[in-house]
Amino acid sequence: MSTFIQPYVKIVNFKVHKDTRGALIALEEGHEFPFVVRRVYYIFGTLVDISRGKHAHRLLKQLLVATSGSVNISCEWDGNNENFKLDSPDKGLLIEGLVWREMHHFTSDAVLMVLADAPYSESDYIRNYDDFLRVSK
Ligand code: TYD
Repeated sequence: MSTFIQPYVKIVNFKVHKDTRGALIALEEGHEFPFVVRRVYYIFGTLVDISRGKHAHRLLKQLLVATSGSVNISCEWDGNNENFKLDSPDKGLLIEGLVWREMHHFTSDAVLMVLADAPYSESDYIRNYDDFLRVSK
């Protein structure tokens, strides 16, 4: 499959509904993220010296949120290379299309929740870095 969507990476800050009882954050299609959610998964219990991800997607759009703890996400796309620290439930990282991503430095309490616009599909993955560079040209 050779189709893909243009890469897009952006930190999104969420509104916190805070009162004397605590705090609540709502994530809605069209406000905090621009797609219909077809899948949710979350990563937890990751050892601090473990890196995950190490792939890109052709078409997938995702919103990553560290609902607890903290995790670093390194992203490479279109010649850009940036590291994002997700260390609060009040922000997320929107990643669309051809972006090579690696998640690392998970704290022991980290829970990384991911909203995605499509079901799991191995054919949407680019798992080889050289293939990613070739397709990105
Ligand atoms: P993997 O792609 O290795 O995770 P990461 O991107 O964090 O490195 O996925 C780990 C396992 O979970 C692998 O066997 C595939 C499976 N999996 C699903 O079944 N559904 C999903 O939505 C995801 C993301 C993974």
